[in-house]
Amino acid sequence: MEGSSGGVVGLSNRSALFEKMLSLCVQVFAILVVCAADSAHRDISYTFKAWNMVDQPLQEQLAAVYKEMESLKHEQAVMKQKQEAFSQALPYCSQKPIDTDVEMNLTSLQTGSSHLLYTLTQDGDGDEGSGEDDSAESLDPCNHYTALNQDWRATNYTTKNAACDRNVQWKGWYRLFYRGKPIQMPERCVKKESCGTHAPLWLVGGHPRIRDGVVTRKVCGNWRNNCCLFKSPPIQVKACRGNYYVYKFVKPVACHLAYCADINTLVCGKCKKSESCMSRDQITYMCKKNKMRVKANIHFFVTYPANISGKVNRIMYRKVYVNQGGAFNTRTGIFRAPVSGVYQFFFSTQTGGSGTTDLWLVVNNYWVAVSHSNVQGSSSVGNLSTYMTTLRKGTTVYVTHNRGRSWATSASNTIVFGGSLLMVRKI
Ligand SMILES: *[C@@H]1O[C@H](CO)[C@@H](O)[C@H](O)[C@H]1NC(C)=O
Ligand SMILES: *[C@@H]1O[C@H](CO)[C@@H](O)[C@H](O)[C@H]1NC(C)=O
Ligand SMILES: *[C@@H]1O[C@H](CO)[C@@H](O)[C@H](O)[C@H]1NC(C)=O
Ligand SMILES: *[C@@H]1O[C@H](CO)[C@@H](O)[C@H](O)[C@H]1NC(C)=O
Repeated sequence: MEGSSGGVVGLSNRSALFEKMLSLCVQVFAILVVCAADSAHRDISYTFKAWNMVDQPLQEQLAAVYKEMESLKHEQAVMKQKQEAFSQALPYCSQKPIDTDVEMNLTSLQTGSSHLLYTLTQDGDGDEGSGEDDSAESLDPCNHYTALNQDWRATNYTTKNAACDRNVQWKGWYRLFYRGKPIQMPERCVKKESCGTHAPLWLVGGHPRIRDGVVTRKVCGNWRNNCCLFKSPPIQVKACRGNYYVYKFVKPVACHLAYCADINTLVCGKCKKSESCMSRDQITYMCKKNKMRVKANIHFFVTYPANISGKVNRIMYRKVYVNQGGAFNTRTGIFRAPVSGVYQFFFSTQTGGSGTTDLWLVVNNYWVAVSHSNVQGSSSVGNLSTYMTTLRKGTTVYVTHNRGRSWATSASNTIVFGGSLLMVRKI
C-alpha cells in the first residue's frame, strides 16, 4: 500500500474532478490497490516539467537568493582555507583540522540504516545511578549486611518483654527478616505497644528506589497518640536489586523504642526479578511487573535538492542530513514509525512560480496537513507546516507535491521534510 495517493480524506479547495476521483478511489477498494501499485511505479520515474520562463522577476528573486547562498559558500571556503593554514602552522596542536565544510558526508550518512535503534530497560528501579565500579561493589551494603531475624519486631506482635534498641551496639548495615523471610520497615505509623516494644519505630518518607542509592530517612516512634512523639536519629537506607532494603540502624533516642518490621511487606520477598513491590497506601503491598520503557532516538531531516513541478505522488527526498534510527527510507521517501509514540513532523517548500503550490503530509495514506501557498505574479514565499500526532508502530509518513512549483537547489534546503519521536507510548 505504500506510495498510494488514494484513501484520501475529502478536502476543500480541490477541483471537482479530483474530488470525484477521490471518492471513487475510496469507494472501490480494489481499484485503490491498483492505483497504489500503479502510482508506486510512476513515482520512481517521474520527470520534471520544463519551467516556464514567463516570471522574470521571480527568476531574479530566486537568483538573488542563490547568489547570496553562493557568496556565503565562498566565505566559508575562505574560512576553511584560513583554518587549514592555521593548523599547518601549528602542527603539534591540531592533528586533524576541524572540518568546517558544509557539504555533508552523504555516503556515510545514507548508509545509516543499521543504527542502534533503541534499547530496552526496566522502568522504576532501573540501572540508572547504580554504576558503581568493582571497588564500590565490594563495599556495597547490599552485599554486606547483618541479618536481623527477630520475629518479635513484626507489626502484628504485641509487647511481651518490651525490647529497647538503645541497648544494642549497632554497627554497619542490617537487613530485616521474619521467620527467615525478607521483610521491610513500616512506612506508616505503627500502633503503640507493638513490634515487641512500647514505641515502635517506623520509616518516614518511605523507601528509596535503586537509582537513589543510599538515602537518609527520618525515624519516628509512636507514643501517646502522636506518631512522631519520639524523633529518633535518622538512619541510612538503600534499595537493593532483588526487592530488598538494607538499613544502617543507630541507637534510638530512648527506651523502650525498637525498629519495626511490617508484616504486610512479607509479600515483597516473593516479587520476581522483573517485578517491583508497590503500595499506594503503605498498608497493602503487592508485586507489580516493571514497565518496559523504550528509549528510542528517532530523528530525521532530509531535503529535496532540485525544483519540483506539478504532481509528484511522493517526494523522493534524497539529501539526508539526519537519519537517527534509520526510520526514513531514502529509496522510497517514506518514514516508517519504528515504535508507537508521539511524533512531530515538519515539511516546507519555497514557491517557484505564480499560482498555488500544495504539499501534503500523508500519514498511512491519509492527507493530514497541507503546506499551501498562493502567490501572485513575481513573488516567492517559503512555507513551513508542522504536524504532531500519535502513531502506531509501522505507520508510514511521506510528503506529496500535489500541485504548483517548488524551488530548490542542492544547497538551498527549501524543500525539506523532518521529524522526531518525542515520546514512546503504547497504543
Ligand atoms: C566520509 O565517509 C567515508 C565512508 O564512511 C569515510 O571513509 C570518510 O572518512 C568520510 N569523510 C569525512 C570527511 O568524514
Ligand atoms: C503475624 O503474621 C504472620 C503472617 O501473616 C503470621 O504467620 C503470624 O502468626 C502472626 N503473628 C501473630 C503473633 O499474630
Ligand atoms: C529551478 O527553478 C528556477 C526558478 O524558476 C530556475 O531559475 C532554475 O533554472 C530551475 N533550475 C533547474 C535546475 O531547473
Ligand atoms: C502557508 O501555509 C499556511 C497553511 O497551509 C497558509 O494558511 C498560508 O497562507 C501559507 N502562506 C503563504 C504566504 O502562502
